[in-house]
Amino acid sequence: MPLVPGTEGGGAGFPFGKAEGIPGEVTPPNITPFALKDWTDEELIRAITRGVNKKGDTLFPIMPYHHYSKMTKNDILSIVAYIRSLKPIERTTAPRKLGIPMSMMGSLPDGNLDNNTMPDPSDKVQYGAYLVNAAVCSECHTPMGPQGPDRSKVFAGGFVFETPMFKVAVSNITPDTATGIGGWTEEMFLSKFKNNSSDEVVNKYPGRANTIMPWNMYGKMKEDDLKAIYAYLRTVKPIRNKVEKYPK
Ligand code: HEC
Repeated sequence: MPLVPGTEGGGAGFPFGKAEGIPGEVTPPNITPFALKDWTDEELIRAITRGVNKKGDTLFPIMPYHHYSKMTKNDILSIVAYIRSLKPIERTTAPRKLGIPMSMMGSLPDGNLDNNTMPDPSDKVQYGAYLVNAAVCSECHTPMGPQGPDRSKVFAGGFVFETPMFKVAVSNITPDTATGIGGWTEEMFLSKFKNNSSDEVVNKYPGRANTIMPWNMYGKMKEDDLKAIYAYLRTVKPIRNKVEKYPK
């Protein structure tokens, strides 16, 4: 991070594993046309929203298909069209190695995409909830319990990512005033995204400012979309959970 232009979709450079709470190693694969040219649109939609690949294997749920299964068919088709437009990158990532059977990972989403609707953007809170789901904020911002993410503490943060260079803890973004972002105005929220979104800032202190929080992707969202995200986050349950950003 940040993303190197020209490498979009070529697959992760390293496997996700213990540091991300995974019982094994999973490398997010190449999704450029080099890897997906033989997949039909239906097969891509099934992988993205149902968690089953072309061969019929279940995808490890770090791929957030549970979230994507709640998006509109139109949005998913836009994603399919976009990944098909990526420059093909000739690269193959390592197959996954898991210490537990996939059957322990719970059930797969099976609703009908045609029933999903996009809330009207004038309904800021509902529209913000749609965006927060699609942008998968909760996956990082929910602490890990012994059985995986602790859904009773959604958005309370605390998970510590161990990168090769430093450790960074995920922030509490619930409206708790003492330990979350309850004291933040909309203005502060927007400027945090804006100020952190340029490659210049992200690269300023190698490691440090480049924190895993995808500031430089989200910072490019429309201002009205970020406002809707803020409006929705004001409505979630405040949770007291003090997080130290750079734990020793
Ligand atoms: C890949 C993991 C990841 C995802 C996805 C993610 N975050 Fe973060 N977020 C982090 C980490 C790590 C931090 C702490 C480091 C930092 O502030 O840069 C953080 C910090 C923040 C902060 C700063 C809070 C503070 O007290 O300084 C806000 C606000 C925030 N995230 C909102 C969001 C929203 C909204 C989304 C979804 C649109 C999101 N995050 C998605 C990992 C993530």
